[in-house]
Amino acid sequence: MTKRVVLAYSGGLDTSVAVRWLMEHEGVEVVAVAVDVGQSTGGDDDWEAIRNRALAAGAVEAVVVDARREMAEDFCVPALQANARYEGKYPLVSSLSRPVIVRHLVAEARRHGASAVAHGCTGKGNDQVRFEVGTRALAPDLEVFAPARVWGLTREDCIDLAARWEIPITVTKDKLYSIDENLWGRAIEAGVIEDPWNRPPEDVYTMTRPTAAEPVEVVVGFESGAPVSVDGVAMSPLEVIQHMNAVVGSYGFGRLDMVENRRVGIKSRETYEAPGALALVMAHSDLEDLTLERDLHHEKARLEPRWAELVYDGLWFSPLKQALDAFIAESQRHVTGEVRLRLEPGRCWVVGRRSPVSLYDYGLATYDATDTFRHEDAAGFVRLWGLGVATWASRQGAKIPAEGDA
Ligand code: ARG
Repeated sequence: MTKRVVLAYSGGLDTSVAVRWLMEHEGVEVVAVAVDVGQSTGGDDDWEAIRNRALAAGAVEAVVVDARREMAEDFCVPALQANARYEGKYPLVSSLSRPVIVRHLVAEARRHGASAVAHGCTGKGNDQVRFEVGTRALAPDLEVFAPARVWGLTREDCIDLAARWEIPITVTKDKLYSIDENLWGRAIEAGVIEDPWNRPPEDVYTMTRPTAAEPVEVVVGFESGAPVSVDGVAMSPLEVIQHMNAVVGSYGFGRLDMVENRRVGIKSRETYEAPGALALVMAHSDLEDLTLERDLHHEKARLEPRWAELVYDGLWFSPLKQALDAFIAESQRHVTGEVRLRLEPGRCWVVGRRSPVSLYDYGLATYDATDTFRHEDAAGFVRLWGLGVATWASRQGAKIPAEGDA
């Protein structure tokens, strides 16, 4: 029986050429799997056109999976609960979609009796790491093919091959950028922005085109750390994310421009837009300020960068990530309430928050007469708090010399 390979198929030039290339160079049958994680299909394409292109390229089978809900609930929500920002900035957009795709590649490999999976990544990026490490975690028996890492073809070669193989695809010889997109945002690389000094041209942005002018407030509701409503209207996480992308994006908020450390050791200039993700993380972490007890809050803040790093590094399916998930899930029990975000052109910030389980106690915090704080407790507390330092200072400490001391 001919060996079967399940290819992560995007409908673009590289993965289209990869279908036929795998058939010719590896002598395999290709099952193309296109996973909808909320990306736009590009040009005039729809998912049916993408499926047909895979078949035209020679795939024995082409499957389109709508994984948007799964992406939202099983990947974006955990990232939100972890307030995940790699290197303090990047909300993990591409890092989150690869494990979703891996899940489906493995499932389809089982369904179609395939012994390998394949992806169209080159050797320089993080996505190859995420595909392959993810696959090894879920299905260590599957082989992995990475044609674009070995074929040595330029973009022009690929265009010529696509024409020769009569793959129906419209491409331009000078592709300006490398784009990766999903519900959680959009990554734009290459072209003129490879020079970290160059300002990203306005046309790289699609999710954050500033069209709205009137300031507006948006109230996001959370239950146990998951977004459940906008302006009092109950919504699924997927709906909240889509809604926030549209509204926040229309104010031109949500752009990032950074130099980041890839897992493979390369520093790269990255341009992102993630209006919904950045606004939601802002709202969620603000609600944690209100509802998390201090020690839990501080410890969680220490673990969040580690969670983001693991996911960035392709370790979504790994024991430390699982253990951190358990900690984060437990921490979210009381992260319930609402956050008011204000939007103005180019800006988004929190202007209010409330919770039925808020730890903010007006009576304790107020400076007015209704104060319930026991002032007499403070002096003794502070004296004991400073006792160790006072002892150290009297025996060993460097005292500030008094005026007139020699
Ligand atoms: N540097 C980002 C990451 O590693 C974005 C990757 C974008 N992927 C792409 N194929 N263009 O998550």
